[in-house]
Amino acid sequence: MDTFLSGKQALVTGATRGIGRAIAEDLLRAGAQVAICGRTKDAVHRAVEELSVFGSVIGEPADVSNWESAEHLFETVRERFRGLDILVNNAGIGIFRSIAELSVEQWRQVIDLNLNGVFYCSRLAIPLMQARGGGYIIHISSLAGKNAFPGGAAYNASKFGLNGFSEAMMQDLRYDNIRVSYVMPGSVDTDFSARSGAASWKIAPEDVAQVVTSLLRMPERTLVSRVEMRPSKPPRAGN
Ligand SMILES: NC(=O)c1ccc[n+]([C@@H]2O[C@H](COP(=O)([O-])OP(=O)(O)OC[C@H]3O[C@@H](n4cnc5c(N)ncnc54)[C@H](OP(=O)(O)O)[C@@H]3O)[C@@H](O)[C@H]2O)c1
Repeated sequence: MDTFLSGKQALVTGATRGIGRAIAEDLLRAGAQVAICGRTKDAVHRAVEELSVFGSVIGEPADVSNWESAEHLFETVRERFRGLDILVNNAGIGIFRSIAELSVEQWRQVIDLNLNGVFYCSRLAIPLMQARGGGYIIHISSLAGKNAFPGGAAYNASKFGLNGFSEAMMQDLRYDNIRVSYVMPGSVDTDFSARSGAASWKIAPEDVAQVVTSLLRMPERTLVSRVEMRPSKPPRAGN
């Protein structure tokens, strides 16, 4: 067994299901101690129970789109871990509506989680990583961060913004030995979007997790700052 993350401590946001859950499992298999969150106490409890067969995992219900809730999550991380080496900003939502139908509340929900939540967690993680002499922050963005589509106004804005945020942050932090990357998957087979449903042609959540662990494996001298990934064979246009 390759435990290359043994002794490292990681936080994965939104890891009760989907991509975050697969990432948490891979980090545990690689020997890291992992903290997870999601908004629902029961779902966090269940995920911790199921993930604990792979290693040492703790969970805390938290809504990372809310600054106070994110602060509380990091208080738990500080108390239990005494620091942090890896942050995966995964929690995100998609609300897909034409701009003419998108409510102010829906716009806020998407930006508050996909953009503000990533800022909150990154801002809270940085001092913990600086105290350890370095770390790694990985954002789960999307191909929707470079390809706009009808109905994507809020989601596209959040992920285009996240990519810019990530690139600036990477330049702010590189000399503190904190590496920053963003991963841009196309359609992933999760419950994320009711509009597209499950399908075997989609990227599996485990494949995104594999990209995350391969970034973490990269020698410290090298930074893969942006990864695009897509289904090899999506349905042909018109099908
Ligand atoms: N699936 C795709 O096709 C796809 C493609 C490209 C990029 N992505 C990105 O990948 C990330 C994960 O997507 P996914 O498909 O795995 O989604 P998912 O299956 O819906 O899972 C989302 C996870 O985030 C948690 N969550 C939602 N809101 C939260 C909040 N405010 N605070 C903390 N946790 C929260 C959810 O738990 P609770 O609901 O219990 O809080 C759940 O654990 C997102 O950033 C998404 O934009 C997804």
